[in-house]
Amino acid sequence: MNRRYRKTIIAGNWKMNMTPSQTKAMIEELKPLVKEVKWCEMVLCVPFVDITTAVKAAKGSKIAIGAENMHFEPKGAYTGEVSADMLKECGIKYVVIGHSERRQYFGETDETVNKKVKVALESGFRPIVCVGESLDEREQDVWSEVVRKQVKIALKDVPVEDVKKVVIAYEPIWAIGTGKTATADQANEVCATIRECLRGLYGARAARAITIQYGGSMNAKNAAELLSKPDVDGGLIGGASLKPNDFHAIIEAANQ
Ligand code: 13P
Repeated sequence: MNRRYRKTIIAGNWKMNMTPSQTKAMIEELKPLVKEVKWCEMVLCVPFVDITTAVKAAKGSKIAIGAENMHFEPKGAYTGEVSADMLKECGIKYVVIGHSERRQYFGETDETVNKKVKVALESGFRPIVCVGESLDEREQDVWSEVVRKQVKIALKDVPVEDVKKVVIAYEPIWAIGTGKTATADQANEVCATIRECLRGLYGARAARAITIQYGGSMNAKNAAELLSKPDVDGGLIGGASLKPNDFHAIIEAANQ
């Protein structure tokens, strides 16, 4: 991380876990633990049905609440989907867009990601845009091309004054939920490549202000090393964000 230029952000992505009552209990346990946190922003991205409970439970704390997805259309015949306006009224600040699980299981493409990013920004949310290569793409040594393409298309027609609100999460697919973390050097290499791509698109000043997170089996044990790298500005955390003590330990690593 490099706090001189950009914010450190630790975000949990709960995926399809936690009921509303579990949400309340988890946030109430987490709140006192993170009371003194100064140097990093904390976010919990939770299932739609938990958002209202989470916003209420997090009130008066520094924990911001986010959604895990949203639709790009304002309303209409999209059974099972949720719009930006609906989320806005629930009080979210962040929204995860283009997670690899949504790309894999729900047909998200770079193009739908781009539409969602623009709607999120128009709605005043900070999009957490997920990019990352598959195991095959890493083994074929094309991760740089893959990640650059994802970033470029995700940010198409996003103006420079808005791009600073975007958070990029580098999540190598082979490291998600597998217990296999990218080494700190691997994570930094890709985050630095993303920043270089942003520099080409938006110039040096904007590029150095954008928070780029790492995600993929980040936990209490490996967080400090990953976050010690200059281009890794935070984490997007799955499994370890479900337990208050584990999530708190990662936050502490980022708060140093
Ligand atoms: P894990 O931390 O469980 O590997 O999940 C990472 C992730 O996909 C966060 O979005």
